[in-house]
Amino acid sequence: MRTALDAPARSGPARRVLVAGASGFLGRSVVRALSSAGYDVRGLVRDAARGDRVEADGGTPVVGDILDLRTLKSAATGCSGIVHLAANPPAEEDAERVRVDGAANLVRIARQEGVARLVIGSGYWVYGSQSGLIDEDCPVAPQGESGVNHAAEREGLEANRTGQLEVLVVRPGMVYGNGSWFQGLAEAIRTGEYRVVGGGSNRWSFIDRWDAGRAFRAVLEDGDPGEVYNAVDGRPAPLREFADFVAAELGVPPPATVTLETAERAVGAIAARHLAADRPTSGAKLRRLGWRPQIPSYRLGVPELLREMFPREGPVR
Ligand SMILES: NC(=O)c1ccc[n+]([C@@H]2O[C@H](COP(=O)([O-])OP(=O)(O)OC[C@H]3O[C@@H](n4cnc5c(N)ncnc54)[C@H](OP(=O)(O)O)[C@@H]3O)[C@@H](O)[C@H]2O)c1
Repeated sequence: MRTALDAPARSGPARRVLVAGASGFLGRSVVRALSSAGYDVRGLVRDAARGDRVEADGGTPVVGDILDLRTLKSAATGCSGIVHLAANPPAEEDAERVRVDGAANLVRIARQEGVARLVIGSGYWVYGSQSGLIDEDCPVAPQGESGVNHAAEREGLEANRTGQLEVLVVRPGMVYGNGSWFQGLAEAIRTGEYRVVGGGSNRWSFIDRWDAGRAFRAVLEDGDPGEVYNAVDGRPAPLREFADFVAAELGVPPPATVTLETAERAVGAIAARHLAADRPTSGAKLRRLGWRPQIPSYRLGVPELLREMFPREGPVR
């Protein structure tokens, strides 16, 4: 089937895609999803030593920096699509630059190189807490890391609005996999240090890491320009239920609870409120593109993931 990505770039073969953030947690899933679908994937890495990750996922590493237009231009040559998942931890000085100036740089280079579309990775933390199902038309209340993600979204969507190139946004939910927040949560539950913030009746919305990669592919290929897509498995669950499930799989007692006030003192108000927020999120719009999660619930994905993460502990339960 012909997709927007088959539009020829000014030079080089069609179906070549640049992934910025290719050595990262989400970027790796996108490299893997695209390369296994036959794309020629260029993975931007700042450090050549990280190139082995890109190769392991089936891509070709290109050394460069999203804040350096010269290296970015040569990395994007011949590409028909770009995915932006470059990010630095919120506490780091250049966190905002990498996400927001990085998005602007990608727009600029994409135009120069004749790239057809750009997908900006964001996250569902841009939404506020609400009890009703969250779709892409719901109001946002971005703060902290999600404020930076939202600013990167707007940078890209403005370029779409003004007709510079096709830009689309993906807002994944809580992406569980071997790394990132899930690694910290599982280790803390295993050692008895994890605390559920508030009562734990607030719902999180999940997506398996490799399903997230395939969601980016679906949006890149078939999404409508200027649109935002949530990427979730469609089965939101209360935080308490999730944490207790992980504990049971690890064979340890359910984690204790802390009040929101205590959590705010421990991890800061923004992070604590994010953890306690109710975000039951709809993935219906993405499903209309034909995407379906291969792991439809964390209850199916987490047990095997924990066995992979803690292989020497023997069976986790
Ligand atoms: N993890 C989740 O569950 C999740 C869920 C929803 C949304 N998100 C969002 O997705 C984005 C990516 O998150 P992540 O968890 O994948 O982050 P990550 O694992 O920290 O990966 C970030 C990537 O960005 C690269 N990078 C940093 N600065 C760069 C620069 N100047 N030029 C080029 N590359 C640079 C890093 O390269 P190095 O290897 O050189 O450090 C790394 O590959 C963030 O905006 C995050 O908020 C994440």
